[in-house]
This record gives sequence, C-alpha cells and structure tokens, in this order.
Amino acid sequence: MKPVIAMDGPAGSGKGTIAKKLASHFNFAYLDTGMLYRAIAHLGIEVGKIEELSAAEILKTAREIPMSVLKSDIVGLKASKIAKSPEIREVMTRLQRDFVVCPGDNHRGSVLDGRDIGTVVIPDAVCKIFVTASPEIRATRRFRSLKRNNDQITYAEVLESLIARDKQDQSREIAPLTLNDAYVVLDTSKETVRESFLRAIKIVENSLKSVEP
Ligand code: C5P
Repeated sequence: MKPVIAMDGPAGSGKGTIAKKLASHFNFAYLDTGMLYRAIAHLGIEVGKIEELSAAEILKTAREIPMSVLKSDIVGLKASKIAKSPEIREVMTRLQRDFVVCPGDNHRGSVLDGRDIGTVVIPDAVCKIFVTASPEIRATRRFRSLKRNNDQITYAEVLESLIARDKQDQSREIAPLTLNDAYVVLDTSKETVRESFLRAIKIVENSLKSVEP
C-alpha cells in the first residue's frame, strides 16, 4: 500500500486546510472524510446504499449541494449524530480503506483528514498528525468562514455548536475523536496557516524517510 498520512482533530482546527496543502505539496491524493459524513447526513443516504458507493461517487453527488449548506453547523451536527452509528461507521471505514488502496497512479500516496483515521480507519498510516487549537480560536475561524454566507450568525452560536460537536465526537462509543502516542500534535492556535503548514511538511518528511528511499 502506498503511504497514508492521517490527519485527525476537532472542527475548526485547520486540519482540512493543512491536509489539502500537504496533498498538493507531496503529490498525494486527498480525501476529506468529514465531507463524506456531511453528504450522507444531508442527503439521508441509507447504509445499504452507501455500501454500493465509492468515496468518489459520494463526493460527486455532494458537488450538487451548495457548499454553504454542506459546511453549515446544522449539517455538521447532523453528521456528528449519524457518525455515532456502528453500521454507518463500518461501511464508511471500508469505503475510506478502498480509497487508500487506489489513490491513483499519479499519486505517491494519500492524505485523509477526519476524526478516526489514524486510530481506526488506517491504523498503520505512516504519519499521524493530530491538529488542534483552542475552542475559542476554532470558533473564531469557523465564525469568520460561516459569516460569509450567513450574516445572522453569531460567534456565541458557533462556539456553542462547536463545543456540542466536540463533546459528541469525543464521547461516542465507536471511533471517538482521540489520539495516542503515534500522533504528532500540531497546535495551530498561535500560528498562521503558512507556519502550521511548514511545520506539517517537516513532520511528514520525517515520517516518509522510514518508507521511501
Ligand atoms: O470534519 P467535519 O467537521 O466536516 O466532520 C463533520 C462530522 O463528521 C464530525 O463532527 C464527525 O462527527 C463526523 N466525522 C467522523 N469521522 C470522520 C470524519 C468526520 O465521525 N472521519
């Protein structure tokens, strides 16, 4: 299997932004697993139907939904709710494993970001990064981004929904958001995107040394 970089962490930590930049820097395929959970939650796709789909097919269907809807807090909370289901997690895990088996001939490996990538989905990922930041900083980032499409939204609402989602994701019985000694923690609270990205490059380069000549 080609090398996998697992990026886990809570909402608003910056993991998606950094994961995407890493994928392009190292020429790896990128999969935003949160987007898969958001799409199936919003579209109400049943477990039986998910079994017939690939990650690419779900993402293709998701492209028809406006980003402002998919990325909203309401859909985020809905996704977090269905993500507690063992049946859903089982099919989603299989689908994400299929993705890393075939990331495409022109890709050197894959980068997946989510909550359980390094703990459950790909436990033998060559590099595991836990991206985090304080709840207030994460809420500020999400507030700025959500405000572009919704001028009624308040910072307090965003912080409240983020804390509720963190709690739901960390306390669920199956595949909760957590980390272990295999992870390198990347706290982005006091950094610019570029600073965090440069640190992430170093972490990945270091891990790749063990698998690539
Ligand atoms: O990453 P994002 O905030 O878009 O994810 C939305 C929700 O999907 C998360 O709050 C979480 O409950 C769920 N999720 C998950 N496992 C993943 C990715 C996302 O449970 N690997």
